[in-house]
Amino acid sequence: MKTRMLRIRNLETLTKELLAPAVELLVNDQIIGFPTETVYGLGASIYSEQAIRELFRVKGRPQDNPLIVHISSIDMLAKIVQDIPAEVRNLCNKLWPGPLTLLFQKKSLVTDLVTAGLSTVAVRMPSHPVALALIKYAQVPIAAPSANLSGRPSPTTAEHVLHDLDGKIPLIIDGGMSSVGVESTVIDLHQHPPVILRPGGVNFEVLQKFIPDLQIYGKSGTNIHLEEKPPTPGLKYKHYSPNAYVILVEQPIDQMQRTIKNLYHIYKQEQKKMGLIHNHSNLRIPTEITEDSRVLIENLLNSQEESHTDLSPSIVAHGLFDSLRRLDEKGVEIIIVEGIPEDFEGLAVMNRLRKAASEIINE
Ligand code: TXA
Ligand code: MG
Repeated sequence: MKTRMLRIRNLETLTKELLAPAVELLVNDQIIGFPTETVYGLGASIYSEQAIRELFRVKGRPQDNPLIVHISSIDMLAKIVQDIPAEVRNLCNKLWPGPLTLLFQKKSLVTDLVTAGLSTVAVRMPSHPVALALIKYAQVPIAAPSANLSGRPSPTTAEHVLHDLDGKIPLIIDGGMSSVGVESTVIDLHQHPPVILRPGGVNFEVLQKFIPDLQIYGKSGTNIHLEEKPPTPGLKYKHYSPNAYVILVEQPIDQMQRTIKNLYHIYKQEQKKMGLIHNHSNLRIPTEITEDSRVLIENLLNSQEESHTDLSPSIVAHGLFDSLRRLDEKGVEIIIVEGIPEDFEGLAVMNRLRKAASEIINE
């Protein structure tokens, strides 16, 4: 199969004609790659069992890991879920479209393939104009996991999708680099207290304003009962991993500086090709490292024009998967990553990094 790229140059004028090739495929049981503001998705109509089966197969995704359904209006939501309590509707009105996924009791027309047999369906309304227009024109809710091969870092550009799925899907829509860079926040409002199953693009700090008793699954101090029984099937699988051996350093800045230097010397001796993902503007990398041509440095803070004196977790989130993939492509064998505080987008970043890491140095 040849994979076609549909490049959208101007996000302001998304006509029906422009997206027609993509819509055509979706309503004819095919799967396509498309941009969202979080990461790229691999989409199928929720009404096509054939396409959904194909989606699991192509991605290499375990059948027991349910998919997120993407909608473009509250009317579309009402067609697939049992009921929308007033306070949930209120939250949707405030935070949709955007990187927030909520669980609902599904109607029977939502196939068990999408929900992996669960009675709940995870739904979000993406804010990327291409994603919204695509769902609107296709007039079907779109089930979409991230468009990477299972276990790999999620794709934040159309090229990342092509890298993983070239020849396996008919079309990828290129709508530019995803602005958020990490997946949506998944929350379950049916549990008491309500809980974040997966931290993501909408921060805990923002959500807490709407849901004061919100808990974070897996964070120390939360409900023991939840710890024993992972509520999101996806949590048990290894995730976000590049081919390289990833070492995450979670230490105070001075100590981190020493650790990075030590690691550099160890792997230099072993003649390994190294990468460093640099996330702290106030951590100085020794010149012996910056001047070593065998070390590739991904400076996420420098990726933006203005210089940042403080750590900006949203910038780290935006570039994280892209830098993991880039270092991989350059044949780096060891990736050293500087951990960041778990504030704002930092919570989602550290959740992804801990899953991607082969080794964590934190004492
Ligand atoms: O930002 C995103 O959420 C991206 C874009 C494409 O929208 N999608 C995404 O999908 O990250 P995926 O399949 O990579 O992750 C979906 C997560 C998994 O952890 C899955 O277990 C959880 O959502 N999930 C889906 N349905 C669920 C349900 N009914 N109950 C609990 N967790 C569910
Ligand atoms: Mg994923």
